[in-house]
Amino acid sequence: MAREKCVLAYSGGLDTSVAIKWLVENRDVDVIALAVDVGQERQDLEFVRQKALDIGAAESIVKDVREEYVEEFLGKALRANALYENKYPLLSAMSRPIIVKHLVQEAHRHQARYIAHGCTGKGNDQVRFEVGIAALDPDIEVIAPVREWDLCTRELEMDYARERGIPVPTTKASPYSIDDNLWGRAIECGVLEDPWVEPPADIYTLTADTRGNSCDEPEYAEITFEQGLPIALDGEVMSFHDIIMRMNELAGKHGFGRIDMIENRLIGVKSREIYEVPGALTLITAHKALEDLCLEREVLHYKLGVEQKWAELVYNGMWFSPLKEALDGFIDTTQQLVTGDVRLRFFKGSCVTVGRRSPYSLYDYNLATYDEADSFDHKAAKGFIDLWGLPTRVWARQRRKVGKEGEV
Ligand code: ARG
Repeated sequence: MAREKCVLAYSGGLDTSVAIKWLVENRDVDVIALAVDVGQERQDLEFVRQKALDIGAAESIVKDVREEYVEEFLGKALRANALYENKYPLLSAMSRPIIVKHLVQEAHRHQARYIAHGCTGKGNDQVRFEVGIAALDPDIEVIAPVREWDLCTRELEMDYARERGIPVPTTKASPYSIDDNLWGRAIECGVLEDPWVEPPADIYTLTADTRGNSCDEPEYAEITFEQGLPIALDGEVMSFHDIIMRMNELAGKHGFGRIDMIENRLIGVKSREIYEVPGALTLITAHKALEDLCLEREVLHYKLGVEQKWAELVYNGMWFSPLKEALDGFIDTTQQLVTGDVRLRFFKGSCVTVGRRSPYSLYDYNLATYDEADSFDHKAAKGFIDLWGLPTRVWARQRRKVGKEGEV
């Protein structure tokens, strides 16, 4: 009988490399390694592909999904101004669902019974993989080798690898765990696990240090949006993908986009996270600024709650879920007239909105101005306040009866 197949989410790192061998030895499966390009830096993916084969994968695939990632995933995050706990732009949480989609696609193409991932039992990513897979194909079985094996220290893992001819890192391993893609970079572990310790300067690669190597002159950027998505930079029509990359560069150069936060993981642990998200935060800042101009007050206020829920769902692995889809529907409706330009100024770690304009702006100069062009009916305000304050007035009279007048 032919062996069962297992599609493995492969990164080229030590954990998933060891996982290839572990799956062959312990589960007697043919491993199909899948590396997904979501715009992570520092990786030669052809090298990664070959490495999986050298270790013993039956097949090894690299898929460049960057365009899809931008168009189908990051566009939704931007329109949702998605920030988990009002801070974190969800970069890892965003990349997992697209990886899941391609894992399941490959599993179907190869008629694989299993999908494996290299996540530990302590993080969010295992949840995102497994719930995502279940949503797309509830019959696929998941294997999580890192959660099962006893290679609990890096040394043990390296010994296991060396004994089996798996290449191990020759340089001293970075004490940090890093995950990155087009939407930014997450840095965890090492000294960062002490929330009192200031992050060492050398952990940052996307953002300049404002005390040292960042720019001394302010710089401006003008982003044009159409229906809530960026379509041009400084008047030059450009893909969303290119705009993200250009903003990562520009904002990064000015030291904007660092986050140091304590975050609540789904599995119940608080963790200290460092993020570098220059492009993501810049685009969310600009998008919000345009929404302030274009969204009617009640929609804007209601959307704030929707955004928070959306971010929570995505953080918690519910990308493919009915509520998340329904919220996407709401968000899409709100974006129809979010079209216009936002001008930003970058300087010494800041990104400030300094201008916004839109053909659909709800800002009415004649209503807002205090000069002679004023068309606001000041007299109407009195009647409005009388009625708006009526319940308060009634309540205050009652309170007076029980002798509590004027108490605060
Ligand atoms: N805490 C972040 C999240 O859950 C980042 C996770 C980074 N993942 C990693 N394997 N280093 O989204």
